[in-house]
Amino acid sequence: MRVELARTIRFCLAADGSLDVDAEVSNSFAAWPPMRGLGRYYELTVTCVGDADRDTGYFMNIKRIDEAARTHALPAISAAAKRADAPLGRLMATMISMLGASGGPLDRTVVKVELRLTPTVSIGIEVSDMTHVLVSQQFEFAAAHRLHTPALSDTENREVFGKCNNPAGHGHNYRVEVTVRSPIDAAGHAIEVGALDKLVDVAVIEKLDHKHLNVDVPQFASLNPSVEHIAKVVYDMLESPVAKRGVKLEQVRVWETSKTVCTYRPGI
Ligand code: NI
Repeated sequence: MRVELARTIRFCLAADGSLDVDAEVSNSFAAWPPMRGLGRYYELTVTCVGDADRDTGYFMNIKRIDEAARTHALPAISAAAKRADAPLGRLMATMISMLGASGGPLDRTVVKVELRLTPTVSIGIEVSDMTHVLVSQQFEFAAAHRLHTPALSDTENREVFGKCNNPAGHGHNYRVEVTVRSPIDAAGHAIEVGALDKLVDVAVIEKLDHKHLNVDVPQFASLNPSVEHIAKVVYDMLESPVAKRGVKLEQVRVWETSKTVCTYRPGI
């Protein structure tokens, strides 16, 4: 039985980027090494694919993933963190190569490595494309909308959309996650998060924030602003500006509430 198994390692570096390998392990749920002073907190997720053993039910003991990440990946992150201009793209390529190398610590099982840098920013790399990284950032906008389609009668609209059909509309604080596939340049860098922030702010957020989507946003003049349609519209708004930056738009996720999220990705 083939399965995908992911393990997240929470850890802190000191403020200068160094890794305290001698720190006592007392709460690895929170982070190990633990936070000290104004250190830096990260999460590293390693995803492996393989067959679960029929008797033990194990594909791989998760301690092996922890051990591999802590022995091989964390020192590489620490070394990069000490540089003012850390080559994040090369760091990701180095980590997935080290972890998944034939005969290496996780011997050809690794399919993806992802490093969460902040609560909103992550950088990932897949074994299927080790010359690019996936850079994700989140944004928010507040907007009003009304769910209503002229294809249905007023009664049918009320039945299908309920309170969301309220004629004056209602509001949401939407959260958007944009993921781009960025080449790793000769110096080991990928697109800067700040560049992605600016690009999405201009192309999307300024056009949607504090607007009534049905009234103020031309894309929804004859398109019902459901979360599904919003995800696709945001994708379309971004595809060309992102391509002009030399990166490829991978996917757009939109949370309408903390419980409802829609992802648009071509070929999903
Ligand atoms: Ni709504």
